Amino acid sequence: MNILIIGGGGREHALAWAVAASPLITKLYCAPGNAGISQVATCLPIGALDFDQIINACKEHDIDFVIVGPDDPLAEGLVDRLNEERIKAFGPTRAAAQLEASKSFTKELCKVRNIPTAGYGVFDTPNAALAYLSGLNPPFVIKADGLALGKGVIIASTREEAEAAIGEMFAGAFGDAGKKVLIEEFLTGEEASFFALTDGKSILPLASAQDHKRVGEGDVGLNTGGMGAYSPAPIMTEAMTAEVMDRIIRPTVEGMAERGTPYRGVLYAGLMITSEGPKLIEYNARFGDPECQVLMPRLRSDILPALIAVADGVLGSVDLRWLEETALTVVMATEGYPKSYEKGSHIRGIEAAEALEDVTVFHAGTKSENGALLANGGRVLNITALGKSVTEAAETAYKAVDLIDWPEGFCRRDIGWRAIDTGKSKSKK
Ligand code: AMP
Ligand code: GLY
Repeated sequence: MNILIIGGGGREHALAWAVAASPLITKLYCAPGNAGISQVATCLPIGALDFDQIINACKEHDIDFVIVGPDDPLAEGLVDRLNEERIKAFGPTRAAAQLEASKSFTKELCKVRNIPTAGYGVFDTPNAALAYLSGLNPPFVIKADGLALGKGVIIASTREEAEAAIGEMFAGAFGDAGKKVLIEEFLTGEEASFFALTDGKSILPLASAQDHKRVGEGDVGLNTGGMGAYSPAPIMTEAMTAEVMDRIIRPTVEGMAERGTPYRGVLYAGLMITSEGPKLIEYNARFGDPECQVLMPRLRSDILPALIAVADGVLGSVDLRWLEETALTVVMATEGYPKSYEKGSHIRGIEAAEALEDVTVFHAGTKSENGALLANGGRVLNITALGKSVTEAAETAYKAVDLIDWPEGFCRRDIGWRAIDTGKSKSKK
């Protein structure tokens, strides 16, 4: 089969790396890809939102199956377009991708299906939001309804900060994403991510992960796309996984089918494990980045038939096998990220890092120029290792990080600290 992966980040490198190993592959393409992806796939210089060019490329290269990595082409209907052209694709339709693209849509589904989540209000005007706020106590959780590059959530410790956030969102700080604003109850507990494939009816649980969203060690500072992750999440025991499946994932899949917008793709649930049990924080309609980089190395089975089965509606016949080991990834980013940063600095030492046993380096923002590897974005490398525990995987990953010669890059030195501190290590998925 000829396969095309859409996207060019660390998530897509991990997907391309996994899919490239499938015996089903004739030729693998990626649009636009990056320097790492070009080692396992032919990269096409087409942006993930350039739907016309993507359709042309599918025809030109006889593509049998398209795997969509990022959220924005899903939210804008790439899978619908591909389906209209009778090109098979992995990922939800635009209507189903609302689970990520509209927080109020997901909250409404939670209400209808009685899915545990934070209490909330949705507002169309600043006055209505401010009136609701006046009846609450801090901390306040303020969210733009739509996609905002992961930046549309403000946790405000004071009323002034919350009022300012509401003002900014309605004033257009996140464009149309802030036309509606949600105010949520503040949940406390431990966060975990849980991934499941579904074809709209059958559900195949994948695995859990924990990520580190803040730029600074100890989980402080600005929010980022994610500075590191590990899988499995120790808090997702078998019992917790079963509860999440029963109370959150299954009712979501049933609810989406019932409304006539069946969800086909990967469901990425952001969870808060509270003293009252697991609660849904949000859904994403795609694999996480960098969570995908710790899921793929743990897979013993070929992922490709599972992704095709999702598109074909026959997921019920698929089973996947996983390594018991922990995978951990450390993100290396360009100095300055998540604020402004320079592109074009030289990176060396990837071969030495990958020569270590159990280490894989997934590229995010990289490009190669005249044989040199250059940084081409904020998040640039994902140094990924397997180990018997979070502690062991972290040790190996940081040994590999230390072999990377990139003065303009930085990383957090504490990825996995919660799991390492507690010493918890028992969970299956
Ligand atoms: P989201 O983009 O919705 O995942 O939110 C980003 C982060 O904000 C989450 O990973 C949580 O750490 C935090 N967060 C979001 N909603 C809540 C909530 N209701 N209570 C506490 N923390 C939250
Ligand atoms: N790592 C967070 C995300 O992919 O949304």
